[in-house]
Amino acid sequence: MGKRIFAHRGLNRRAPENTMAAFRKAVDAGVTWIETDVDVLQDGTVIICHDTTLDRTTNCTGSYYKLNRADLAFIDAGSWFSPAYAGEPLPTLFQLVDYMNETGLNANIEIKSNEAGAAMTRQLISAVAHELRRLHGPQVIVSSFNHVLLHEFHALAPDIPLGCLYETAALYEDWRSILELVGATYIHPEDRDLTRERVAAFRDAGFGVNVWTVNSVARAHELFNWGVEGVFTDCADEMLHLAE
Ligand code: G3P
Ligand code: CA
Repeated sequence: MGKRIFAHRGLNRRAPENTMAAFRKAVDAGVTWIETDVDVLQDGTVIICHDTTLDRTTNCTGSYYKLNRADLAFIDAGSWFSPAYAGEPLPTLFQLVDYMNETGLNANIEIKSNEAGAAMTRQLISAVAHELRRLHGPQVIVSSFNHVLLHEFHALAPDIPLGCLYETAALYEDWRSILELVGATYIHPEDRDLTRERVAAFRDAGFGVNVWTVNSVARAHELFNWGVEGVFTDCADEMLHLAE
């Protein structure tokens, strides 16, 4: 079984998170998997952004739910990180899929739990399924903390492997039932308080295990020894030697 090092939001310590610059830095460093977050604009454009507002990672403020694709031209997603990245665009999933096809980069696409209701959530998942159909070659995993959303996504794209994300505080003993109901291939637990026994139980139930967010090489090594398949990390370039 191959071990995967996922560059969390791209190589986010070298370039602004979740931008094409961060994905290019990952590829340039030899990273083969990135993790990224997607949500949707009013017109159905799937964008790459971790937060539900633009405040932290752009020069704009507020929600993007009422914006359209044309508005992206006015968003600078790089200046907050460094003047060297001034004018770095807020990317779309369309652009990332093109880049994956061009470079062979693989991706975990985390679908954010959209806060604007069921209609916009369905618009989001159907647009993501549509965009990912354009991939030819690279591998993809779709994950979410919203397992209801993942269940609906599975009906739209039954061939795409799914990962159920869990915070430790929300990881109850019904995880197996939930993963089976969703049709998930992977469980993506938080690293905090994760034990060898729990990893063994996930694996015995037939699931691959990808853990977030692991920034210690020693901890990543330990997790791989327990049978974990992948780790999401902010320092992927320092962990590549652990990958097979
Ligand atoms: O997918 C793992 C990790 O990205 C989940 O947490 O908040 O960084 O999206 P967050
Ligand atoms: Ca994420």
